[in-house]
Amino acid sequence: MNILAIESSCDETSAAVLVNGQIRSNVVTTQLIHEAYGGVVPELASRAHQQMVLPVVDKALNDAKIAKKELQAIAFTRGPGLMGALIVGSSFAKAMALGLNIPLIEINHMQAHVLAHFIEDPRPAFPFLCLTVSGGHTQIVLVRDHLDMEIIGQTLDDAVGEAFDKSAKLLDLPYPGGPLVDKYAREGNPLAYEFPIPDVPGLDFSFSGIKTSILYFLQKQQKANPDFVQQNMTDICASIQHTLIRILLKKLTKAAAQTGIRDIAIAGGVSANSGLRTALAELGQQKGWQVYIPRFEYCTDNAAMIAIAAYYKFLRGEFADQTISPLARIDW
Ligand code: KG4
Ligand code: ZN
Repeated sequence: MNILAIESSCDETSAAVLVNGQIRSNVVTTQLIHEAYGGVVPELASRAHQQMVLPVVDKALNDAKIAKKELQAIAFTRGPGLMGALIVGSSFAKAMALGLNIPLIEINHMQAHVLAHFIEDPRPAFPFLCLTVSGGHTQIVLVRDHLDMEIIGQTLDDAVGEAFDKSAKLLDLPYPGGPLVDKYAREGNPLAYEFPIPDVPGLDFSFSGIKTSILYFLQKQQKANPDFVQQNMTDICASIQHTLIRILLKKLTKAAAQTGIRDIAIAGGVSANSGLRTALAELGQQKGWQVYIPRFEYCTDNAAMIAIAAYYKFLRGEFADQTISPLARIDW
């Protein structure tokens, strides 16, 4: 079974080819145009997807040494994501499926982040918990089967990736800030400054308060010393990152205790964070959990995860109608 998958939900144009359950190619291009604006500009993202989708798909097919006529299905990200960006990927996928007279498979981007764990070994055993952390989402997902997932906790406001990016912006770091906070944090003292841990009931999260407390903290420090940020960048980043990781792992620990599940995974762009990866591995050892941390290339947006999700839908015969529309917000 040969599947071509297309991902275009935000600022990565990506295509992957899956052959008999194995990823054969995964081409990811990141749109650099947004850097000048300090964040993703939706209209520019749509235009860049339009420019890139054809060469990226061609390269994915070439890398996999698969001809178009050998494909059995085309998969695409239906949502959640930026509407214009999703329309480019979905229109391309629909047209190609129609032209080749093969089925279309719609994929939920957040489910695909979780299923990235099934691209290669070690694959988690069911049921497991997945902390899915990206630029738009922060969720604790109870995964019963490949396509049977339940969100048991989520953010009530900002996503943790947004908290990383907005903190970076306050520190005058260029977009995307998350990886830069991670880089500086490696050299800093995580206990140098203290930020409050929000008290949110149940398994839900909140990240808007911490962003405000960082803003007030920086304003106060800069009043006394205008060079405060430049002089203390590594300690500030390490302290912010430490706080965000504490918030995430506190709720993940609570979810594990509540459900009795000891197979714990992380997924999504923020799972590329080196501090989170180390902290989760240590916590897992302490608690006796089996911990699953994806390879870096499968943390941030990529079409390989769309392809593996499509594989499980293909096996179940879950195909989409040709008239299906993308959805910026999507339920499970
Ligand atoms: O999953 P993803 O690529 O796109 C969405 O679905 O949103 O996640 C992007 C998010 C951004 O907020 C980015 O800053 C964050 O993941 N991110 C990181 C790191 N790498 C990516 N945050 C912290 N540390 C990193 N190393
Ligand atoms: Zn994503």
